[in-house]
Amino acid sequence: MCGIAGVISLGEVAERLVKCIHNLEYRGYDSCGVAMVNGGPQVHVRKNIGAVGEVSEKERFSTLSGHTGIAHTRWATHGAVTKENAHPHSSCGADFSITHNGIISNHERLRSRLSRDGHNFVSDTDTEVIVHLVEDYFKKTNSVEKAFVAAIRELEGTYAVAMITSHEPDRIFCVRKESPLIIGLGADANYVASDFNAFIDHTKRVVFIEDDEYAQVTHDSHSIKSISTGEPVARDVLELPWDSEMAQKGGFPHYMLKEIYEQPIVVNSALDIDEERIRDLARQTVEKTLTITGVGTTFYISQFAQYMFSLYGGATPLALSSDEFRHLAQMGKESLVLAVSQSGETYDTLTALRHAQKLGASTAAIVNVMGSSMARMVDSLILQGSGPEICVLSTKAAMSQMIILTRIALEAGVIRGVISRKVANARIKDLRVIPETIERILNEKSGFIHTIAKAQSHINHWLFLGRERYYPVARESALKMKEVSYVHAEGMPSGFLKHGTIALIDEKMNSVVFMPPKEQKELYDISMSSVEEIRARGGYILGIMLEEKGKPPAIFSDVITLPKAPAFAAPYLQMVAAQLLSYFTAVTLKRNIDRPRSLAKSVTVA
Ligand code: M6R
Repeated sequence: MCGIAGVISLGEVAERLVKCIHNLEYRGYDSCGVAMVNGGPQVHVRKNIGAVGEVSEKERFSTLSGHTGIAHTRWATHGAVTKENAHPHSSCGADFSITHNGIISNHERLRSRLSRDGHNFVSDTDTEVIVHLVEDYFKKTNSVEKAFVAAIRELEGTYAVAMITSHEPDRIFCVRKESPLIIGLGADANYVASDFNAFIDHTKRVVFIEDDEYAQVTHDSHSIKSISTGEPVARDVLELPWDSEMAQKGGFPHYMLKEIYEQPIVVNSALDIDEERIRDLARQTVEKTLTITGVGTTFYISQFAQYMFSLYGGATPLALSSDEFRHLAQMGKESLVLAVSQSGETYDTLTALRHAQKLGASTAAIVNVMGSSMARMVDSLILQGSGPEICVLSTKAAMSQMIILTRIALEAGVIRGVISRKVANARIKDLRVIPETIERILNEKSGFIHTIAKAQSHINHWLFLGRERYYPVARESALKMKEVSYVHAEGMPSGFLKHGTIALIDEKMNSVVFMPPKEQKELYDISMSSVEEIRARGGYILGIMLEEKGKPPAIFSDVITLPKAPAFAAPYLQMVAAQLLSYFTAVTLKRNIDRPRSLAKSVTVA
C-alpha cells in the first residue's frame, strides 16, 4: 500500500531517491520522507505530510547529503496522517532508520514490551516497533545483521522493510513477507523498491526477494539469505521487458487517458498470447472445478468470464470476490482457482490463492506484472503483457483480462465439444476487430462523450445497467465512475432494477444502459423494457450501443453510438465508452485523476 525505495551509490543519492518515491506515488501519497546516512553517528530523517513534490520542496529533500538512503511514500493504515506517523521511523538513538509496507499484527504486544524496556515511541504506527526492536537487539549483539534478523523473527503480519544504519553506512538491509520488495541492479548504483517503477529510469535488471528472505545491498553487490536458516540463497537476475518511456505519460494529460488509448495495442497483445498457453489453461478449467477470483475491477472481470464460460465454455464457474473467498470456498484437489490481478500483489487475492492451496486446489493466474508474488506462487501463469499501468484505475489491464479470459472460455467450449472450432475461430475473428474499433471510438466519439460528461456533471447519482455479459461491464463501469469522479454510481442487472432500486429514479438520478445489439433479440427487447421503466419515471437515460440499421430508439435521452462492429465485440467496446465517460466527468469536476483520494494502485493490506 505504501511505496518503499532505497538507493546506494558512491555518489550523492538524494535526488534519485526523491525521483524513486515520486515514481511510486500511485502506491500511496498522504505523506512521505527520506532518511540518509552521511558519515555521522545518526541517520538524518526529513518527512512530512503531503505529496512527494510538495514535501520534497518544503523539507528540501534534495539537499540531504549521503551515498545511502531510503525513502517512503505512505498510504495510512495504522495511525492518522501526521508528520510523526510518516516514514522513515528512527530508533531512540537515531542510529537506525526504517521504512515499512504492510501490517505488523503483534505490534501492540511488542510496543508494550519495548516501552517497558525504556524505548520512547513518537508515532502511532505499527512500523515503529521494528526499528526499536532492531536497536534493542543491536545493544545485545553488536551486530547489525544479527539484530535485524532477530527483530524480524519476532514480527507477525506482513511486511516489506528497508533499513539503513550509521553503524554500517555502506549497505541497505531489507526483508519481505507477503509484501512486495525487489532489488534493482544499476550501472552506478543499486536499488531496493516496492516495485520496478521506482528505478525504471536507471535499470531494468532486477532480483526478486521471496517471503522470509532478507537481503543486504551495497553499491555494487547484493546478497540474499533465508531468515529461518541464515543460509545464502542464489537468485537469478532478470531483465524486465518494460522501459521508462513505456511508464511515462507520453504527451497525455493523465495516465488514465494514455492507458485508455493504449487499449488497441493491449488487445492485440492479449490476442497474440501463445495459443498453447491458452489451451493448456482451458484444459485445466475443463478437467477441474473452476473458481475465478479477483477483487474490485478484477472481480467484475471474473464475473464477465463467468458469463463467457457459461455462454461458450459449456459450464458455469464460480466467480468469487477474493476478499470473501475464504468465507465461501469449498474445494479440494478437484478444484482450480484462477486469479485475475493487474499487480499480482493484491493482498485479498493472494490470500484467496493461499487458502485455495491450503485446501489442495490447483492455482492459476492472469497477471500483468512479471515476477509479482502471484506470478510466482501459482501452478500456471498467463502474463498479460499489457505494459505498466500507472493510473490507480485499471483500464487497459482490465480490457486485456477480458480478452484473455474470453479466449480461455472459447477454448474450453471447444474442448468440451459445446462449440465447434469453427465457431471459436469466428468469435476470435470478432475480437480482432476490437483494436481498430477502439481507435475509431477514441478518434470519433471522445468529443461527444466529453460533451455529455460536462452536461451531466451536476448529477450526483448514476445507475449503470446491463443484462447477461453486459451486467459485469455495467458494474465495472460504475466502479470506474465512483473511483475517479467521487460521484455515487451503482452497477446492477437491468432486471434487478424493478425489485427496489427503481424507487430512486427521478430527475436527479441518471442511468446508463449497456444495450445488446439487436441480433440478440430477446436480450435487446428485455433490456428495452428496463429503459421504458426508467423513462416512465422521468429519469435521464444514456444508451451505449453499436451502430446498427435505423436510428437509435428515441426513448433515450442521449445515445453513444459506437462504430459498426460484430455483436460479439459489443461489451468490450462499450466498456471503452464508459471509461471515457468517467474520465471526462472527473476532468470536469477537477478530480485527482491518476491518484484519486484514498485509493492506492496496489492494495497490499487486508
Ligand atoms: O492489482 P489488482 O488487479 O489485483 O487490483 C485489484 C483491485 O484493487 C483493483 O482492480 C481496483 O479495484 C482498481 N482501483 C480498479 O480500478
